[in-house]
Amino acid sequence: MTQAPEPAPPSSLSLAGKTALVTGARRGIGAAIAAGLAAAGAELILMARDAALEDTLEAIKQNGGGQARVITADFADPAAVEAAATEAVAAAAGRPIDILVNNAGTIRRAPAASTAAADWQHVIDVNLNSTWAVTRPVGAAMVQRGGGKIITIASLLSFQGGITVPAYTASKHAVAGLTKALANEWGPAGVQVNAIAPGYISTDNTTDLRADAERASAIRDRIPAGRWGRPEDLVGAAVFLASAASDYVNGHILAVDGGWLAR
Ligand SMILES: NC(=O)c1ccc[n+]([C@@H]2O[C@H](COP(=O)([O-])OP(=O)(O)OC[C@H]3O[C@@H](n4cnc5c(N)ncnc54)[C@H](OP(=O)(O)O)[C@@H]3O)[C@@H](O)[C@H]2O)c1
Repeated sequence: MTQAPEPAPPSSLSLAGKTALVTGARRGIGAAIAAGLAAAGAELILMARDAALEDTLEAIKQNGGGQARVITADFADPAAVEAAATEAVAAAAGRPIDILVNNAGTIRRAPAASTAAADWQHVIDVNLNSTWAVTRPVGAAMVQRGGGKIITIASLLSFQGGITVPAYTASKHAVAGLTKALANEWGPAGVQVNAIAPGYISTDNTTDLRADAERASAIRDRIPAGRWGRPEDLVGAAVFLASAASDYVNGHILAVDGGWLAR
């Protein structure tokens, strides 16, 4: 029988003995957060559209992690996501999920008047409905056990309107609201629910913005840090919100934006 790990002191950033489920971890911010949680000591479960996650699995190993478990589900299909998450909770009975990072997300750029209904639905399904579909069963198990950490990746567009991304903005405002609603409801059971709002980060999500030289430099010039963010810039916030160091932080949307919102 394996010995239960010592409880971490309240200020600890260690995730030793913890299991973290990260969605959308094949690339970008999710891949960086998965590797960062592994470096802090967590075991990983990766939930992704398909099982081709070699680069992330390798990065986890490079950061001292073990062999991560992989669960597949297409986030465009919230019912399938809920079934996969429910199964993951059942399968994790002996090794429960302590940390959930809701990272999978997508964006479709078009003026509101010409946004197709299918594009609206797709973004809302991936960013909002599937976040809910994972969080409900995983969070319910945390509530039953009396502890857990849920981190959702929000956006600057949880606060601002954005330019020609109406479904994305609506979805990210909604995940910020859901974060607060669940913090209220699950806080008494020892579950902290927070969000990270990344600024402008160089990933595939922002390829179109960065391809427009004028827009890319206008964005950079407005960021007090004077540069676009990198996926690794989100790791510190994720480890903090996943660890005992944030036990009294609940319902917070933590901007990691190089100062954008302060401007
Ligand atoms: N980059 C930014 O500036 C920025 C700013 C604010 C918030 N965010 C948020 O940060 C999160 C990560 O984005 P990113 O910048 O790292 O973008 P990214 O490089 O495009 O990564 C998106 C991730 O989400 C997954 N995903 C997308 N659609 C999916 C689907 N239908 N089913 C399953 N997985 C799906 C992708 O999986 P595949 O690899 O299999 O496609 C990928 O792993 C998103 O929630 C995004 O909205 C990003």
